[in-house]
Amino acid sequence: MADKKKKAAIEAQNLDPKIQEYLEEDAKNKAEFAAQREEDFKQPYDPECILEVRHMRKTFPLQKSLLGKVERELVAVDDVSFKLKAGETLGIVGESGCGKTTLGRAILKLHQPTDGRIIFDGEDITDFNTKKMRKNRTKMQIIFQDPYSSLPPRSTVGDILSEPVQVHNIVPKDEVKDYVLKLMDKCGLRDYYFERYPHEFSGGQRQRICIARALSVNPKLVICDEPVSALDVSIQAQIINLLKDLQKSMNLTYIFISHDLSVVKFISDKIGVMYLGSMVEFGNKEDIFSNPIHPYTKALFSAIPNPNPDVKMNRIVLGGDIPSPANPPSGCRFHTRCPHATEKCKYVTPTYREYEEGHFAACHLLEDEAK
Ligand SMILES: Nc1ncnc2c1ncn2[C@@H]1O[C@H](COP(=O)(O)OP(=O)(O)OP(=O)(O)O)[C@@H](O)[C@H]1O
Ligand code: SF4
Ligand SMILES: [Mg+2]
Repeated sequence: MADKKKKAAIEAQNLDPKIQEYLEEDAKNKAEFAAQREEDFKQPYDPECILEVRHMRKTFPLQKSLLGKVERELVAVDDVSFKLKAGETLGIVGESGCGKTTLGRAILKLHQPTDGRIIFDGEDITDFNTKKMRKNRTKMQIIFQDPYSSLPPRSTVGDILSEPVQVHNIVPKDEVKDYVLKLMDKCGLRDYYFERYPHEFSGGQRQRICIARALSVNPKLVICDEPVSALDVSIQAQIINLLKDLQKSMNLTYIFISHDLSVVKFISDKIGVMYLGSMVEFGNKEDIFSNPIHPYTKALFSAIPNPNPDVKMNRIVLGGDIPSPANPPSGCRFHTRCPHATEKCKYVTPTYREYEEGHFAACHLLEDEAK
């Protein structure tokens, strides 16, 4: 009877039975996934990790009804999960608009996540209010891409760096200047810059000031959002080396967002590859660079020039434009551009799974190979 009803419903919708089968598989996967998500929320925090992001989602409303109900939304970050140990660097890569900045800002709660949990330094901070977050602000800092607009033009470097130290009582009042001068030295800034204004500096020096400001409050986690993209290539290496040195001496944990895969390869311990809001692959740098398993990662990395002229580049050129996150494709979001896409990819969302220890990806090809 049930089968008859199902058949009649398929005929009424004029759907190919194979497509109907895929839609049912997708619905089943989604139900299993929802149950798994609830289970994951109940798991104890990993004491080895300074940061755990569990099923993070961030949407932005695009259209609201007169009564304020959201009628259309943009999914900027969709179900992103990962863990990070203290002192590690996670590089986040992906094309423009894939949600890298939104993910970083949501971790810092500069955007309130729509769903998911953020466990930072042993505490679930997802629902912390502004007052509770104030205490955490010192532990989590961000460095932006543009060092020109990030600094107040009418304050001296000394004032810019002293203010957070005073506001958060990092050292007694009479020790602030000494503390700031030491910090400036660590960041490669001469002591006479203390009395100077941001406009007197080059982009690289300004970024050093931004780094010093972020580190002035002794953070544990620093999100670096394209920190060298606006700088000359010659200066980029100096800033990256500075960030690496400071990480070692201050045991900092970084989330390093960048378009530049060579920079990410140099600085990261772990890599997360994002596509249209989702994390499609995640793992240790060595695994991701030597053995990328997701078709999108393979395409992205195939564009990295090889310094050895004898090695032939097998560049995978992706066709089509990046779809809009306001209207993402069904099934696997990458199916409109994937060279390996099958009919199933159009309808069934692949599950994000661990394929080797610490190496995660979401792709039907891998699911089929693993069977
Ligand atoms: N405040 C906002 N309101 C509405 N949409 C937003 C907002 N912030 C970001 N978005 C949208 O969310 C998506 C992800 O944006 P995001 O800035 O996180 O991408 P990104 O990966 O950092 O891109 P880029 O590499 O260009 O910096 C984009 O489609 C963007 O237009
Ligand atoms: S699930 Fe299909 S479309 Fe998506 S990456 Fe894998 S093969 Fe390509
Ligand atoms: Mg960005």
